[in-house]
Amino acid sequence: MTLWHGRFEESMADSLWRLSESFSFDQALYRQDLTGSRAHVRGLVEAGLLTDVEAGEILSALDEVEAEFDQGVFARQATDEDIHMAIERRVTELAGSVGAKLHTGRSRNDQVATTVKLFVRDAAIDLADHVLSLAETLMEVGESDPTRYLPGYTHLQRAQPVLLAHHLAAHAWGLTRDVDRLLETRRRMNVSPLGAGALAGTSLPLDPGYTAQLLGFDRSFANSMDAVSDRDYVAELLFDVAMLGVHLSRMGEELVLWTSAEFGFATLGDDFTTGSSMLPQKKNSDVAELARGKAGRFIGNLTTMLVVLKGLPLAYNRDLQEDKEPLLDSVRNVRLVLDALAGAYRSLIFHQATAQAAAEDPYMAAIDLAERLVEEGRPFREAHEIVGRAVGESVRSGRSFRDVVAATPELAAHVAVFAPGATLRSRSSRGGAGPVAWPLQQETWRMVDEGLRARLEVARTGEDV
Ligand code: ARG
Repeated sequence: MTLWHGRFEESMADSLWRLSESFSFDQALYRQDLTGSRAHVRGLVEAGLLTDVEAGEILSALDEVEAEFDQGVFARQATDEDIHMAIERRVTELAGSVGAKLHTGRSRNDQVATTVKLFVRDAAIDLADHVLSLAETLMEVGESDPTRYLPGYTHLQRAQPVLLAHHLAAHAWGLTRDVDRLLETRRRMNVSPLGAGALAGTSLPLDPGYTAQLLGFDRSFANSMDAVSDRDYVAELLFDVAMLGVHLSRMGEELVLWTSAEFGFATLGDDFTTGSSMLPQKKNSDVAELARGKAGRFIGNLTTMLVVLKGLPLAYNRDLQEDKEPLLDSVRNVRLVLDALAGAYRSLIFHQATAQAAAEDPYMAAIDLAERLVEEGRPFREAHEIVGRAVGESVRSGRSFRDVVAATPELAAHVAVFAPGATLRSRSSRGGAGPVAWPLQQETWRMVDEGLRARLEVARTGEDV
């Protein structure tokens, strides 16, 4: 028997049931749904719609339901369409007739919005925490030996040498924006929809502000229709994950390149690589490939959500139930990537000799030569041309660039640029890739990292009933 059987003469067709049930995936939200229900019960007491004794009975039934879910023994009944109806049905079984008062003044429409918001709010903090940890791992791996360097690339062509620490930090800085975005998403969405009812509020004396406060929301909705139809926060979180996933995919691609024999810059630990079922010599960087590949589903999930929302009339429509699978999928999968990638970076063995040899490619000193000429007072374009001619001559004749430079009158005085590590050291401008600029970047990093950790802590402690 469904909760709305009063209105109907015939029961739902099987095919419709299978299409519309969502318990199979929204049971993952049981904890958040129970949190919302506890606040609603206290709101009903405050409104004089439940006595303290009645509320006590319902609250202990809610606790019991939580224990059943925690222990994996909650028994779904055939009529439990979604997590909300399953919990209400079980509460009524456990608490008796008083359980039937739980849904007073509430609709599944404001209930589901509250439940999903509580989930997104927790997920934003949890993800931000793990993203920041990955960024910190990247910094630690770089700092563990700040003398290592490798070529930096543009167009995947060798461009200028860069410190490994600086290179890894580039990814860490990108991740700080993901942390900021997640915290901002959480801040913007922290408005309670509970009390909006089906779409228009209620005639009962419920105070949405009271339950909002209990649930740690900054405030309650100003417009009941917006409250039940808004899923911006789901789309925003899915965007945050998609953007983060794009960052992770770029890191993954880089690890794939670095660990190839062609680059040979790094090896991942045995515990972060896989073998081949056929080829005995293979050591594959699957972790990096999955980090790269998962971005596809993150972008797909965001697209799904935006398309579901597009053109929906106010207020609640069942289409909105399609928010949950993309949301749960993105959150679950990006967590897997974050944890595995952090481990992979910690296991990384960097092959300094190979990377350094590549970074000592003499052509990468070309810009240094041009800049020495600029210091002598030559316009940069002229300097660029003189050095460019020397490069061209070396490439065409097969003579080493150093020899050609030594034989070029304008350049001969500057062969010191070819000394090992010289061009790296000369990248000294603020935020630059060499060892002179690095300490300031480290200091800036520490400030930003501390600031984000503090914001995370404030967000975390300011919540929950
Ligand atoms: N399972 C539904 C969802 O996820 C709950 C809300 C159902 N509301 C309704 N009016 N049918 O959206």
